[in-house]
Amino acid sequence: MHTTQLESLLNWRYAVRKFSEQSIAQDKVDKLIELTGLSASAFGLQPYKVIQISDQATKQALLAHSYGQQKVLDNSHLLVFAADMSPLTSQIERYIQDFKANRDLDELVYSQMEHGMKDALKALDGESQYNWCSEQAHLALGTLLLAAASMEIDACPMTGIDKAAYDEVLALSPLNLKTVLIVPIGIRDSSDVNAGTSKVRKSKDLLHIEV
Ligand SMILES: Cc1cc2nc3c(=O)[nH]c(=O)nc-3n(C[C@H](O)[C@H](O)[C@H](O)COP(=O)(O)O)c2cc1C
Repeated sequence: MHTTQLESLLNWRYAVRKFSEQSIAQDKVDKLIELTGLSASAFGLQPYKVIQISDQATKQALLAHSYGQQKVLDNSHLLVFAADMSPLTSQIERYIQDFKANRDLDELVYSQMEHGMKDALKALDGESQYNWCSEQAHLALGTLLLAAASMEIDACPMTGIDKAAYDEVLALSPLNLKTVLIVPIGIRDSSDVNAGTSKVRKSKDLLHIEV
């Protein structure tokens, strides 16, 4: 992709406040999630899951915990990114197995990797694990927004929700998951107040420092 194409995608996308009634085909949603999975993550661990909610009754229950943001109900699909709160040692062991299946390296290299990762992450307690997983999920969000734009899928990244209530409604605790952010996706409605508005961004002088 050329830079100009990328720039036009970045300008095409915006945080949609009102979706039309059009729905996105499931194979497109599957592709979007697959592309999101190609996002970079620390150590490659991808310590999060993407939960797809298509059921209107569940969306309705979540709307009650979304500070009146109607787009949580009125969308094609609602995606919830949740932090993987299962023990990091197990996540690392799973990753090393996947790594072995994809690379042909000496056994010693795998065991050094495993020990190095376990050592680097051993200090993370519950809250810091959540924060770390959340950072990785936000990185995947960036990939998702760009991937969605490339497929002409609209989205709104959202953290303005009661995350603990989402965990309850979705019964995430027994799955060792905790809500981080949500992304309703669909097709923008032409009456959306934000449609066609110009971007508000820092000027290069404010964004950029050269040392
Ligand atoms: C992490 C994150 C959380 C956000 N939470 C909300 C939200 O709860 N509700 C909302 O309407 N927009 C939310 N936004 C959208 C931002 O307001 C929007 O991305 C920003 O104003 C820039 O505008 P643009 O994305 O339309 O270019 C969120 C964006 C991000 C990245």
